[in-house]
Amino acid sequence: MPRLVKNGNYVQLLVKDKPFLILGGELGNSSASGNDYMRSIWPKLKQMNLNTVIAPVYWELMEPVEGRFDFSSVDTLIKNARLNKIKLVLLWFGAWKNSMSCYAPAWVKTNTTRFPRILDKSGSQHEILTPFNKNNLDADKKSFVKLMQHIKQVDGTQNTVITVQVENEIGMLPDARTYDEAANTAFNQGVPEQLMTWLIKNKNSLLPELKSVWEANGYKTSGSWEEVFGRNLSTDEIFMAWYYAVFVNELAIAGKAVYNLPMYVNAALNRPGWKPGQYPSGGPLPHLMDIWKAGAPSIDMLAPDFYNPDFKHWCDLYTRTSLPDRQAGNPLFIPEIRFENGIDAKAFFAFGNYNCLSFSPFSIESTEHPETEPIGKAYNILKQLSNLITKYQPAESVRGFLIEKDSVLKDIAIGNYLLTVHHEYKMGWSAGAKNDVWPLAGGLIISVAPDEFYVAGTGIVITFASVTNTKKAGFISIDEGRFVRQKADSYGENEKWIPGRRMNGDQDHQGRHVRIPGNEYSIQHVKLYTY
Ligand code: DGJ
Repeated sequence: MPRLVKNGNYVQLLVKDKPFLILGGELGNSSASGNDYMRSIWPKLKQMNLNTVIAPVYWELMEPVEGRFDFSSVDTLIKNARLNKIKLVLLWFGAWKNSMSCYAPAWVKTNTTRFPRILDKSGSQHEILTPFNKNNLDADKKSFVKLMQHIKQVDGTQNTVITVQVENEIGMLPDARTYDEAANTAFNQGVPEQLMTWLIKNKNSLLPELKSVWEANGYKTSGSWEEVFGRNLSTDEIFMAWYYAVFVNELAIAGKAVYNLPMYVNAALNRPGWKPGQYPSGGPLPHLMDIWKAGAPSIDMLAPDFYNPDFKHWCDLYTRTSLPDRQAGNPLFIPEIRFENGIDAKAFFAFGNYNCLSFSPFSIESTEHPETEPIGKAYNILKQLSNLITKYQPAESVRGFLIEKDSVLKDIAIGNYLLTVHHEYKMGWSAGAKNDVWPLAGGLIISVAPDEFYVAGTGIVITFASVTNTKKAGFISIDEGRFVRQKADSYGENEKWIPGRRMNGDQDHQGRHVRIPGNEYSIQHVKLYTY
């Protein structure tokens, strides 16, 4: 079974018993619903070196009539993924997709008495199923379980499907909470005992956002939501997050009981300055991670979708490890990132700096030129390095860099050395250096021995200093090269290093640094000595 396992301080995704990094791309929402439409897309995905496609399964198409299931689009996805030697992450577009319930089948949408909606503050309905209703939960859950049963039946041995996303970008709009009758009743009742017990148990290691809300109200250990957390929008959001998490957890428990794949939920990141309800309230956002972890323990990962700036800021928030029962933290799993300039550098950084399990530009098929896409070039390098990254990560022997025009990273400790990393354009040797805007640079380094490294990326210059102040560092050799697979279908086993150019003279500035020019992508094998 594909599964998550703890290795040292890290969680790894094992596929066929080997650590697997998802070099992915998510399909645009409607692409997977058209088999003919998908025909021209698969070759593009191969050209960009994807090893995984993240693709939706649509409730409305899978269960068009209640209790009657059509798995043809799932089967076609699996068949074509196998033909192309690509793995699949399936997205359950069930009760909610970007807050709304637009993928609910017609028999659900048209029966608002049986399947009630949320009400906004003014009492008006929206096309959003309320999580406070058992019919809604049962209908969604039944269908999701059928999907998991079907995946098990058709894929239980081959394991083309490696992970499942439950719902998509959950969150309440246009207010911070729903005002339907069942929700109002729950709101006025006490904070559920399950949450209260969890809060008390983890009081000292709560993330600061939730801790401060609870602290501001005197750490009350019982009472209504407003008594415990205060009378404000933040409480409305916490309340909503809890009930969304509990709903989703029910799906995950039932789905895993039939076929135990890793499962995650994804979040639409909140924009700074916006209030809950202006952004989708109650989703698996950084400030609600504790509530989601408490309410949905069967969900393995809370995953950010990146359409905001400040990549590092959000990655840092999602990988915080303060909670004891969070064990190795929340592994960074990126199901979506805007398909734009700079994602090549971000991919190197994410896999090198965080224990990232998945990187995946959204609407990956939209490119007209897959053969020249920077992300395809980055994936070509990352594919060759996946084994080395996952082998050395648990020993803390991998680092990643993300470099903007003026940023310099100093004193990065690895092996026997302290590194300084800056943008290659700083050398002034590239024509592009005269431009106002420089491409984002990124890379990673793997220490395979205290004096031996593999460096990869784009647009970086790295200088090495000895950790001992008394000595200087010099290069014995720098070789550009590639890892070649020994078995065509082995997803990265048995690689052999084939050196290409010896990178000396101008290429290492006469022994001063390791350099990968901007807009180029390479792996360099570096051996050092001290004197
Ligand atoms: C995030 C959603 O999760 C995707 O399904 C898609 O709607 C994108 N936004 C569009 O930018």
